[in-house]
Amino acid sequence: MGILDKHHVLEKNVTLLAIFAFLVVTIGGLVQIAPLFWLENTIEDVEGMRPYTPLELAGKDIYIREGCYVCHSQMIRPMRDEVERYGHYSLAAESQYDHPFQWGSKRTGPDLARVGLRYSDEWHVDHLRDPQSVVPESVMPKYGFLEDRMIEGKYIEDRLKTDRFVGVPYTDEMVENALADFKAQADPDSDYDGLIERYGETVQVRNFDGAAGISEADALIAYLQMLGTLVDFSTFTPVASR
Ligand code: HEC
Repeated sequence: MGILDKHHVLEKNVTLLAIFAFLVVTIGGLVQIAPLFWLENTIEDVEGMRPYTPLELAGKDIYIREGCYVCHSQMIRPMRDEVERYGHYSLAAESQYDHPFQWGSKRTGPDLARVGLRYSDEWHVDHLRDPQSVVPESVMPKYGFLEDRMIEGKYIEDRLKTDRFVGVPYTDEMVENALADFKAQADPDSDYDGLIERYGETVQVRNFDGAAGISEADALIAYLQMLGTLVDFSTFTPVASR
């Protein structure tokens, strides 16, 4: 009699079944989890990833405050239909500076992981003001009030420090210049060399909402226009195929 023929013993004894089920799940769990403790890093370093600029970080906080994640995910899954619609599947590294992560679990609207540079700033202004004006069938709420809410970046230095506390590699220089960098990114006439030096060439410096002063819309659009633009997928090769 082979071992498989004895399976009926387990099927007829619920206590034994529970014990064996527990053993199987324990072994399976260990096999999955244990190796993670011996890996030096579970997130592959990817060229181009950088901490968010102060203005982008402020925009991310507005994104969270307004509950955009309730309708939008930021994670492109490695499946053909997703990749054809949204672009390269999301890498773990692309959300490594997100605290909390914005993967989301509901897609009433499209995934936003690579929405950066897909539309103009003007499109975003119009769309936030009145989504139905650009996409008539849209069920997205209006966020025009963000343009009227001015922000001064009063707490932005502390905000960077908070993210540094949970592991985002902001340098002392980034923290010290947080307010200056915050203002510079929204003003193309400013001296933004320091900002570019600290955060790199992928930083977009513009008057995002097209109006005077820095509004919440400026910060939010700066954040949206950055999403998915940091890693250059024309040169990226996954570790496995290097
Ligand atoms: C009630 C659900 C809902 C909420 C909340 C919501 N959206 Fe949307 N969003 C949608 C839907 C539906 C669409 C697709 C139609 C459209 O473009 O308006 C969309 C589209 C978008 C697009 C265009 C994406 C693309 O690839 O075409 C952007 C950008 C966007 N939303 C940003 C935001 C931001 C930022 C917030 C928070 C301030 C937000 N959304 C909140 C439902 C929502």
